[in-house]
Amino acid sequence: MNKTKNIIITGGHGRIGSALTEFLITNGHNVLVSDIKPAKKKTIFKNGNYSFIKLDLTKEKNIKKLIKFGKKKFKIIDGLIHLSYPKSKNWGVDLSILKQTDLNQGLINNLGATIILSKNILKTFQQQKKGNLILFSSIYGVFTPRFSDYPKGKIYSPAEYAVMKSGTISFVKYLAKKYQKKGIRINCISPGGIKDGQNTKFIKNYEKNCNSKGLLDAADLNGLVKFLISEDSLYINGQNIIIDDGWSL
Ligand SMILES: NC(=O)c1ccc[n+]([C@@H]2O[C@H](COP(=O)([O-])OP(=O)(O)OC[C@H]3O[C@@H](n4cnc5c(N)ncnc54)[C@H](O)[C@@H]3O)[C@@H](O)[C@H]2O)c1
Repeated sequence: MNKTKNIIITGGHGRIGSALTEFLITNGHNVLVSDIKPAKKKTIFKNGNYSFIKLDLTKEKNIKKLIKFGKKKFKIIDGLIHLSYPKSKNWGVDLSILKQTDLNQGLINNLGATIILSKNILKTFQQQKKGNLILFSSIYGVFTPRFSDYPKGKIYSPAEYAVMKSGTISFVKYLAKKYQKKGIRINCISPGGIKDGQNTKFIKNYEKNCNSKGLLDAADLNGLVKFLISEDSLYINGQNIIIDDGWSL
């Protein structure tokens, strides 16, 4: 039976996070969102099983604050879905002009914070003897971007993004093995591109390699998360699940 879960969502006010938070609270789960910014759609988040703590999750002291708050609120934290996505000051520039300071900031705040967050939540999951951690990678963590899809100068997929996202996948596998036999599961989701007002030329190019939709809506990921936090996926551990309408084939 799939019971009500107590779930923390980091970055729960972002593109994917808002759709997921809305979905989980309307399905009766208790959701604690941690984000650096407040929610846009205030009405949805007035629901009684939604709560919010504003924190910068690139700092370990704030990660600890979040987990302490979660434990107080829920007693048992069933799962944590990590969607916060801090970007460096000049995020998204071409590799040829990437500055070392921006690279360092990007790697530390993104992949570094993912590692530190995981370390802390897994300590709690170990104490509870249960827990479900879901990290987010991307198709660009598995496959090289099709550079020809990007109209010149419009948008760009940065090299460090591919590095962070492939790092996330290997980290998930490392963790799943390290934390075996502790009642804990750790998996990774790698979505394809999510609609966000992208350039029309890019959308058309991207669609050519997809099955039926092309860029996804954020809500298209909800079913997969629902499955991964449920008892229906009890024996799925250490996996990276791609959801991209076949783009990566
Ligand atoms: N959108 C896509 O097309 C796409 C595709 C594949 C994978 N992903 C992955 O999914 C995840 C979420 O992506 P998204 O599109 O929802 O991103 P987003 O930028 O819309 O949301 C990220 C959220 O993180 C929050 N955040 C940023 N810095 C923070 C900090 N220091 N502390 C706490 N919160 C902070 C932001 O306020 C925002 O609400 C990312 O890991 C991304 O790489 C996204």
